[in-house]
Amino acid sequence: MSTLTDELIDVETRALEELGRVADVDALEQWRVTYQGRRHGRLPNLLERLPALPVEERREAGRQANRVRSALESAYTERRAALERAHVTQRLSAEAIDVTLPGRRAHSGGLHPTTRTLREIIEAFRPMGFRVVEGPEVEWDYYNFEALNIPADHPARDQWDTLWLDSEDDEGKRPLLLRTHTSPMQVRVMEAQQPPVRVLVPGRVFRHEATDASHESVFFQVEGLAVDRGVTFADLKGTLYTFARRMFGPDRRVRFRCDFFPFVEPGVDMAIDCFGCRGAGCRTCGQSGWLEIMGAGMVHPGVLKRVGYDPDIYTGFAFGMGPERIAMLRHGIDDIRHFYANDLGFLEQF
Ligand code: PHE
Repeated sequence: MSTLTDELIDVETRALEELGRVADVDALEQWRVTYQGRRHGRLPNLLERLPALPVEERREAGRQANRVRSALESAYTERRAALERAHVTQRLSAEAIDVTLPGRRAHSGGLHPTTRTLREIIEAFRPMGFRVVEGPEVEWDYYNFEALNIPADHPARDQWDTLWLDSEDDEGKRPLLLRTHTSPMQVRVMEAQQPPVRVLVPGRVFRHEATDASHESVFFQVEGLAVDRGVTFADLKGTLYTFARRMFGPDRRVRFRCDFFPFVEPGVDMAIDCFGCRGAGCRTCGQSGWLEIMGAGMVHPGVLKRVGYDPDIYTGFAFGMGPERIAMLRHGIDDIRHFYANDLGFLEQF
């Protein structure tokens, strides 16, 4: 028959064995109730039998009981601490941030190729005294056509396919439109000030037309206007020649040929020798050796008169060009529709 001492050692052995298998705080609590629980715990159960033992046996069993109790207690404390440490470590690794991961790249925007080209054009003219003004995109028929020597029903209007706005004047005419060019600003600027005038007008223009590789319905123009006493065609040529060399290189040659715009007289189209082939003929210039880059001319006396300038005292020149066309020539872009297709693959190249 086993003594209480034997039973105490037996309980200790099992308790420690089981404690080794305890894997979480709940199981640990279960273990504590089983072995140390005040009411039905195995150890307290055994201790209840102590007082009934004969003196000799009781002394020995009492010593064992104390030893086993504190052995279980410290084993319990140790186990608890270990489980808590493991728990913290687990949480830490679950919530950890991998600081070695590469960061997300911040996307930095850039200027649109049209904006860049506009700025370069403006910088080329600025040293010659031109200031920049802007005007309305919704324009009166009067400024877009009438005041520029293009009366209603004049065939020259065919040159500018127009987007009209839904509005009528007293005579049932449509007076509002989306400007088809920046030239109406010639008239607005001259109406608003006396000579000398030297302005550049960048801005959006609109055409009612089918789009293709060289036509867009919304694009940009830059208008130029210079009016003063004694301005001659030589000033026009000198100014545009200077621009061409600043913009396209110091060895550029220029060509002026007669052209017709109702608001200038004489009118010209200006070309530069092709910088791709230097005039020999290539695909960019369509084998001609020349690239047409703008329309220009001496401001028509009728336009001057209409704004109250005396054409016997004042003369001037005007020009207009498309920045997209200039960017296309410089960068070898083959389709104007790329500019406003919002294709980052295209835009990020500039
Ligand atoms: N406004 C003209 C166009 O859109 C260009 C131009 C401007 C021509 C100024 C002569 C002078 O075609």
